Amino acid sequence: MAKIDLTGKPIAITGASSGIGAATAVACARAGMPVALAARRLEALESITKAITDAGGKAIAVRCDVTKPEDCQRLIDETVTNFGSIYSVFANAGFGEKHDLLDTPEATLREMFETNFFGTINTIKPAAQIMKQQRTGHVLICTSCLSALPSPGYSIYSATKSAQHHIGRALGVELAPSNVHVTTVHPVRTRTEFFETMQERQGVTNPKDRPGQPPEKVAARVIRALQKPKPEVWMHEPARRGLLIAAQLPRLTNKVLIGRRAKGR
Ligand SMILES: NC(=O)c1ccc[n+]([C@@H]2O[C@H](COP(=O)([O-])OP(=O)(O)OC[C@H]3O[C@@H](n4cnc5c(N)ncnc54)[C@H](OP(=O)(O)O)[C@@H]3O)[C@@H](O)[C@H]2O)c1
Repeated sequence: MAKIDLTGKPIAITGASSGIGAATAVACARAGMPVALAARRLEALESITKAITDAGGKAIAVRCDVTKPEDCQRLIDETVTNFGSIYSVFANAGFGEKHDLLDTPEATLREMFETNFFGTINTIKPAAQIMKQQRTGHVLICTSCLSALPSPGYSIYSATKSAQHHIGRALGVELAPSNVHVTTVHPVRTRTEFFETMQERQGVTNPKDRPGQPPEKVAARVIRALQKPKPEVWMHEPARRGLLIAAQLPRLTNKVLIGRRAKGR
């Protein structure tokens, strides 16, 4: 299959005020795509938008809380109004908190699902309706490697990521006859504001602060998926294979995880 030329194909990206979303916005603009950047922090969006337009790209900033369907609808409307159409959407906004299930505050549990899962639905639905009608487009969803295996301490976060993965795969099949591609993106630990936000929200410091990959690495893989569509992008192939094997061996996996927790890992 020939590479898709992305020049002039507009994309809307949520969670574009930092991390993976911001890096992807810059990479998409460099590939010639007009970009609508969305998040709640308008100032941060505007400074990235300015950097893109200063470099000759096309970009707009749209304040958007993905938990509000009307904000997401406005994001898609503004993309079409400013750029004439929408080719792609990247539902990337999200956050995590670390709690054992029994210690997870009810409000946190619901907020995480509202943002990561329902926020994804709110974002992709209005965009995919247009793509289906125009019979071309590409929906991308940022999930996680944790979508493949519930991780102790992250069960609710993993559940939101797994739910995103499921809708992404099903939607890909549902939209295939309309020539609309769907890709789920599964990063491993990435150097973004994700862990800082988690620490701020929980008022604790993360004892296992490890560096992780740069967000530009995820952005480069998103560009490749846009050029050569595929159902899933995994950032770390050995981790993917390990997780697939672990999912087939629940007893052994639990034994290993229980042992790691006993050692405080
Ligand atoms: N970092 C990792 O190790 C890692 C690994 C696997 C998967 N991921 C996934 O990657 C995605 C991006 O995260 P990141 O690592 O780039 O972290 P990040 O730097 O903290 O970015 C998160 C983005 O989500 C936005 N956001 C959060 N709640 C929102 C809401 N209600 N409405 C609109 N925007 C909202 C934030 O913007 P505002 O605060 O301005 O709204 C921010 O732009 C997330 O879905 C995350 O689950 C991250």
